[in-house]
Formats: sequence, C-alpha cells, structure tokens
Amino acid sequence: MHCTRKIYDDLIWVGADDRRLACFEGVYGVPDGVSYNSYLLLDDKTVLFDTVDKAVFEVFFENVAYALGGRKLDYLVISHMEPDHAATIEGLILRHPEVRIICNAKEKAMLAQFFRTDYSDRIDLVKEGDVFSSGRHEFSFIMAPMVHWPEVMMTYDRTDKTLFTADAFGTFGALNGRLFSDETDFFGEHLSEARRYYTNIVGKYGPQVQAVLKKAAALEISTVCPLHGFVWRKDFAAYLEKYSLWSSYEPEEQSVMLAYASVYGHTENAANILAARLAERGVRVRMYDTSVTPASYIVSDAFRCSHLVFAATTYNAGVFVTMENLLHDLAAHNLQKRKVAVIENGSWAPMSGKVMRELIAPMKNMEYLGDNITLKSALTEDQLAALDALADAIAAEIGPKSVSGD
Ligand code: FEO
Repeated sequence: MHCTRKIYDDLIWVGADDRRLACFEGVYGVPDGVSYNSYLLLDDKTVLFDTVDKAVFEVFFENVAYALGGRKLDYLVISHMEPDHAATIEGLILRHPEVRIICNAKEKAMLAQFFRTDYSDRIDLVKEGDVFSSGRHEFSFIMAPMVHWPEVMMTYDRTDKTLFTADAFGTFGALNGRLFSDETDFFGEHLSEARRYYTNIVGKYGPQVQAVLKKAAALEISTVCPLHGFVWRKDFAAYLEKYSLWSSYEPEEQSVMLAYASVYGHTENAANILAARLAERGVRVRMYDTSVTPASYIVSDAFRCSHLVFAATTYNAGVFVTMENLLHDLAAHNLQKRKVAVIENGSWAPMSGKVMRELIAPMKNMEYLGDNITLKSALTEDQLAALDALADAIAAEIGPKSVSGD
C-alpha cells in the first residue's frame, strides 16, 4: 500500500524508509535505518526527482502510481547516480515507458555504465544554469561535483523556491512517518546522525561543499529537499551553519575526542586517568574504545571536537589495528586543523606513537600538544605528572570554553 506525504499541493514525497539495512554503503551501520527520498511534482508536466534504492522498490512504485493518480510520468530528473537513488531507474522506465530523463552529461555516461543500455533517445541533457519549465514551475540546474560523486547536480525550483540538494543536507535515520525537520527535535535528537552522515559520506570533499554553499547562498530558499532524511522548511540557517563548519574543517566545539586502543586494559587505564583529569578541569571529553565503537562514530566526533587524543598499544611492531584503521579513516576523510596528543604503549619496543604520527602526517594543519607519552606495559606513578601536564595544556586552551551536554 502506498505511503506518501505532501510537501506542497503539487509536490509529493514518494520515497521510503529502510530499517533493515545492516550497513549503508556496506560500511556504515544505520541502527535507526535510513530513508531514500524521491519527490513527484504534479504540474502541467509530471516530474519525478530521483528514484530510490532497490531495497524499497515495491512501495516506491506504489507511491509513484498513487501520487500520479492515473497521469503519465513525463520526466525524471536525476540528481545523483549512486544506486541508493538510481538503482530503480530501469524499473521506472519499464513501468513508465514514456518518461524522459533530464540529466547532465556525466550522469548520462553513468546511466550507460550501470544499466548497459543506451537511453540517449529519452535523455534531455542539461548543464549549469540551464532552465526547464514544467508549466507553472521553472527550474534551473546547479552542478555540485563531488557532493558526493562527480556527476551530482542540484535542481532549484524558481517558482516555489525549493532546492533539491541530492545527498547534501541528508541524514542517517528513517523518517518514521515524519517528513519535515520541524516535526522533530532535529538538533536535539538527529544532529549526531546528520553529522555522522555528512562527515563519513561527504567529509572528504569540504572544498567542493563550500563551492556549492556559495552558489546556494545566492538563492532564495524556502524548502530544502535532500535525498535522505528530513525536508527543511524552517530554521534551515542553523543547519546550514553546521555544514559551513563541517566543510571548512572547523571544530563545532572546544572539547576533546579521546580514542584509545587497548589489548589488556593498561592503555585504557591511562586514557581513563587523562579523561578524569580533563573532567576535573572542566573539559568535555568524548571517549571511545576503537575496538568497540565503529569508526564512523569516532570520525564524526573528530570533526566535532577541537582537540584529539590518540592512545594505543604497539602491535606487530606497529600500532594496534583498530587504531590504525581509525587514523587511516580520518586521513581519508581529510580531517585537518586539530590539536593532537599521542599516548603510546609497548612492553619491549614501543612503536605505536611513531606509527600514529606517520598516519596523522597526511592530515593538514595538525598541531601536536607536546611529545608522545610513552608507557612501558603500564602507567607508573611518575608518569601521572605527564598526564596532568597534558590535561593542564588542554584545559589552558579550552577549559573555560568547553561544553557539557550529550
Ligand atoms: Fe545517497 Fe551518494 O548517495
């Protein structure tokens, strides 16, 4: 049975939730599910904005048929060819053989790659600034390369001031019946998943996101329709501000992200003592065991916090694998502009500090807070002073500005 929601009288959400997906993109756990958004405009011509992942094709096609109300589908606008939005294009064409496709040249090439079919005779190519009219509505197209693939484009409805933003401004989490961000406590309940979505999916492409934000700043926007998560019709400026911080790699808060990798608990003990010393000084600490918490959550808080502490044991003459993976992930996501401290452990030949620094080296504008603190098997009484000194150094920079909260 169909399940749709109205945005305007002539714009209908026809997407679907997936709460059974174990890993988004095969990597990111989505315990709260995810939504695949698609929007149908009922103007003189009918226009569908993107399709959905194949996992939810059944309800999606029911939604489209219901929302069309017996009308034929005239156009499909493609924002992004990643299969979580494009996998059902072939099925859509089978069900609506009259549909014409509006897309850019890169999307056309990817259509042919994914479906091994030449759709040229039904494609109307568009490029930056081109205008398309469906009747009352007039649209222009804004290229958004690498947000999050090179072919991505946004569509701006000049008539109702709606911006279809592709992956940008999306979030993990099923909609659960709600559609608009103002139907939720977005900043209280959903910002952390929005941050995890942004930083892990698009975090690497900050400069490209900044370029699109600049273009969007010139537009009058009343409604934002992303391909995942909530539609925005209120308070969008506050969310935009978060995007501005994330994409410029500026921390959201003056706080510490402390990640540790510990085999028998001795490195963890040092991390716990440091966390306690920081808390005593009024510094907010967000702390993770890299062997327990999936990297995507730690990446997200690394983007959030101003100061990062990495503590890890030596393993195979290198650094423990879960810390190695995390640091690779942070470098791959282009994290930069942070203050960093390193604590290493090794019972006979401590190497993890050196290797952690090597893994941090590709990250731009990272500033170390002193030398590595080196444990030999376990922290000694004498080394408590080193942890105190590190806590003092961090507190001196951020203590008074540190935050409390979730
Ligand atoms: Fe939601 Fe880049 O796909």
